[in-house]
Amino acid sequence: MFDLATIEKFEHIATPFYYYDMELLGRTVDTIARLSERYGVSVHYAVKANVERRILETINIRGIGADCVSGNEVLRALECGFPAERTVFAGVGKSDREIYDAMSAGIEAFNCESLHEIYVIDAMARSYGMRARVAVRINPNIDAHTHKYVTTGLFENKFGIARHEFNALVELLGRCTNIDFTGLHFHIGSQITEVSDVYALEARRAAEIVSWFEGRGLVVANVDFGGGLGVDYGNPDGNDVAPFEDWLRTLTSNFPRREGQQLHIEPGRSVVAQCGSLISRVLFVKSGETKNFLILDAGMNDLIRPALYGAYHRIENLSSRFRKGFSEMQAYDVVGPVCESSDVWGQGRILPMSVRGDLMAIRSAGAYGQVMASRYNLRDFAPAVFSDDLDSAPRYVDYFNPGR
Ligand code: LLP
Repeated sequence: MFDLATIEKFEHIATPFYYYDMELLGRTVDTIARLSERYGVSVHYAVKANVERRILETINIRGIGADCVSGNEVLRALECGFPAERTVFAGVGKSDREIYDAMSAGIEAFNCESLHEIYVIDAMARSYGMRARVAVRINPNIDAHTHKYVTTGLFENKFGIARHEFNALVELLGRCTNIDFTGLHFHIGSQITEVSDVYALEARRAAEIVSWFEGRGLVVANVDFGGGLGVDYGNPDGNDVAPFEDWLRTLTSNFPRREGQQLHIEPGRSVVAQCGSLISRVLFVKSGETKNFLILDAGMNDLIRPALYGAYHRIENLSSRFRKGFSEMQAYDVVGPVCESSDVWGQGRILPMSVRGDLMAIRSAGAYGQVMASRYNLRDFAPAVFSDDLDSAPRYVDYFNPGR
């Protein structure tokens, strides 16, 4: 991902920043677009993973739609060129204003997560003299075998409508005057790595549920399997594009699609994770009682995944590639500057001997990185820098050597 010319350019850029490899993003998006056509599955990108304008524009021009979870995400998607008829709006708690704005924009569908929400959308559509398209998210009670914070398809989770409400749902949909039911929606979790087992189960469970509803007179025109495809955080260069084909093959071969039925997926992480890295500088090297610390200028406010989920991100010393000859390896606890003990990038990481000023890359940071950043400790937001536009990045100022 980083050739020497790119790293040399990084020397002139203020850190920390998010670096996006636009060649890899383009290749990833092309792969999804080509495979989704081959398998006859339509794709909505889960905007929540990364909302950078350039990234959304790159995805949008490949004919992919947008899956949004807030009114502002809907507005951002529309601003970045996603047509309303390819934009869906999901989430357990939509405010009246968000519903009104999305309905006025004429979005493709609301993915509704409770009977109460369907009732409110129908009533609002009626009072404004509009119609709304609605898909219903079902809780299929499937274990995605992933971190508990990103598991969404179990009965204990707040997402989707539970089995005991299915009869009431059919009855409610029959009474709604201003909504058009478009289909069923499932999403069981994120960073799913047991692709063939977990998604086969999801597709078969979805098939049972779809036929239950069709047996009661509802036309399930769209079946959305959600997102969740995992990426390889351990080996981002070896597996830079996620296994989209395994995913699509598993879903389509385990779901008996009826004539005229459209299948959908909504990947987020697998589209954008590997093209992004958080680039940082070593501020200080410190020898603790039992270990060595590398203190970076990027912290948990920039990328919260390690602190929040204990997530692993590969760390690389980019500057060491310029050092001639043998570079001694050393174990470091790599940490950030934020005043929290959980502000740790990785413990006991074996890295080339590192010195103040070295550029470090925290890999696979394109998804749920920049979007989850905060200004905790009143730190600045790390900006986005794109591989095809390095020259417009914020310049590094060397305060230590004012003469230079
Ligand atoms: N569809 C729905 C309804 C979702 O809730 C999500 C993600 C997706 C699609 C996209 O899933 P993906 O393909 O990205 O796995 N912040 C966490 C991940 C949260 C995922 C939330 N929902 C992390 O950093 O791991």
